[in-house]
Amino acid sequence: MLGDKKVLFSGMQATGSLTLGNYLGALKNWLTLSDEFECFYSVVDLHSITIRQDPTEFRKKARNLLMLYIAAGLDPKKNCIFYQSHVSGHCELAWILDCFTYMGELNRMTQFKDKSAKHADNINAGLYTYPVLMAADILLYQADVVPVGKDQLQHLELTRDIAGRFNALFGDVFTIPEPYLGKAGAKIMSLQDPAKKMSKSDENPNASIYLTDDRDTVIRKFKRAVTDSEASIRYDVENKPGVSNLIEIYGAVTGKTFAEVEKEFDGKGYGDFKLAVGEAVADMLTPLQTRFDELSKDKAYIDGIVKENAEKANYFATKTLRKVQKKVGFNEIIR
Ligand code: TRP
Repeated sequence: MLGDKKVLFSGMQATGSLTLGNYLGALKNWLTLSDEFECFYSVVDLHSITIRQDPTEFRKKARNLLMLYIAAGLDPKKNCIFYQSHVSGHCELAWILDCFTYMGELNRMTQFKDKSAKHADNINAGLYTYPVLMAADILLYQADVVPVGKDQLQHLELTRDIAGRFNALFGDVFTIPEPYLGKAGAKIMSLQDPAKKMSKSDENPNASIYLTDDRDTVIRKFKRAVTDSEASIRYDVENKPGVSNLIEIYGAVTGKTFAEVEKEFDGKGYGDFKLAVGEAVADMLTPLQTRFDELSKDKAYIDGIVKENAEKANYFATKTLRKVQKKVGFNEIIR
């Protein structure tokens, strides 16, 4: 708790550009949480270097992600929006927690197994201890709730285990975080292979709508979206995954239920439907992109936000870190 509010922590990686899936599945819901919770939203750049990054590109991507948080509507005065690498406590706590995490636990992490298979030439120790850094992110701010996708639940479960273990040894140091399930975000699939989640790192650029895609690109990608040969607009994930994905997207953007969408397009062809989905998405993205362009030109404003929020995050992080250092028995730093 911070004041009378519960604390919420979440983060996104700065690898690739954010997609419509990230927006409808996560970011859009974050917007509704800042009144209820004290929110920390991090650009988790420390996590990103577990995969090789080109430094120039990476710097730009991380800054774009931070600006997209704001362009999407997160108020940086109400939400602490910061780069993970600006708060050294994340690494310091991660090291301590490493010493309270078993290799057996890390060996079970499915994301580690997946990523090791995908990057077989670079299975570095950071990739292995990635979940412990994530635990440090969350525990450093004494977060009560963490909105995460299903793929991160195993890491959150590990975070709870580590925190519980530490508390059992040293008393009530960490808040045990809960996953925030709230209103489930829409699950958006690839436009080219609706069996796969829409991903920032998809090799086929037509598979994902990026939040920075212009109107023509958005509409063109929807026109090319994979459907089926039945020519009826009906929600049926099993038999009509492509069309169902488009219904899901249109519903999430317009606030309409699946039944309402089906009714609206009853008797219409796929061409008309795809165009309508493309236009609705482009209309939704326009104000976000306008804001993003403005922010991109206002270096002083963004730098101010970055500085202010890093200080705020550091303040809370240091409080937890000092407590932890004392508990494990480090000598006090003399200032
Ligand atoms: N591992 C998360 C992902 O890839 C990102 C992340 C890092 C995160 N630290 C976090 C998410 C802390 C929630 C809380 O999606």
